[in-house]
Amino acid sequence: MTEEKVELAFSDKYNEEHSKAYLEKHRTGFWRNRSNQRELNVASMALQSAGYPQSILDLPCGAGRFWPILVSSGATKLLAADNSPSMLEVARSSQAPEIAARFELMQTSAFDIQLTDNAVDSIFCMRLIHHVGEASDRQRLLAEFYRVTRETVCISLWVDGNYQAWRRYRLERKRSKKGYQNRFVIPRETIEAEFRDAGFRIRSFHDMTPKISMWRIYVLEKVIEETGTP
Ligand SMILES: C[S@@+](CC[C@H](N)C(=O)[O-])C[C@H]1O[C@@H](n2cnc3c(N)ncnc32)[C@H](O)[C@@H]1O
Repeated sequence: MTEEKVELAFSDKYNEEHSKAYLEKHRTGFWRNRSNQRELNVASMALQSAGYPQSILDLPCGAGRFWPILVSSGATKLLAADNSPSMLEVARSSQAPEIAARFELMQTSAFDIQLTDNAVDSIFCMRLIHHVGEASDRQRLLAEFYRVTRETVCISLWVDGNYQAWRRYRLERKRSKKGYQNRFVIPRETIEAEFRDAGFRIRSFHDMTPKISMWRIYVLEKVIEETGTP
């Protein structure tokens, strides 16, 4: 039986105009620049904890924000994928040519990655899973990551247990009657159980600003079940 496709409402917004706006958003203003730089530093720590993988799939790559650090991590095979063709085009044309040239680009859904099993050493997934509100959809995503990575996954999301999450919960309570929501704080206990259920062990986690920020990057390692006697 074939599984139903997972379609997230937020995925459709990344047309040409929105993709260009996304690139600008992270480049504009002192505070944005600072927080972008901090995010790049934290992501570099995650790559170090992942053991500087030799082959990496950046999914979703968005406008290629992380490409310079992925190149400087020393990886020899770099793939970048996104659901949105406009995002891929913005990434290709806005990053320095010598950086962009290092990446093989592909359009694919993270729920149905067009790669073989164990295709890369690591999947680098920034700012996607906090858009996935349904546990069953997260389970599909993590199962796909388990299939495609050989060793690790670096994944960022919003978690609870900090000031921003507390503020966000208060805001959501006020907004609750409006219905549509496209970003979610996932309790640490919940997501960590989901990682384990999907076959991953948590190697480390890295907070953007401990106790203050909701952003956390987890480094997960794939656990291979022993098959028993040969
Ligand atoms: C918030 S952006 C993050 C991009 C990048 N990782 C970053 O942090 O700059 C979310 C990205 O997810 C992509 N996206 C949305 N739905 C997707 C899906 N089902 N599979 C893969 N990418 C998806 C969008 O096109 C967009 O580029």
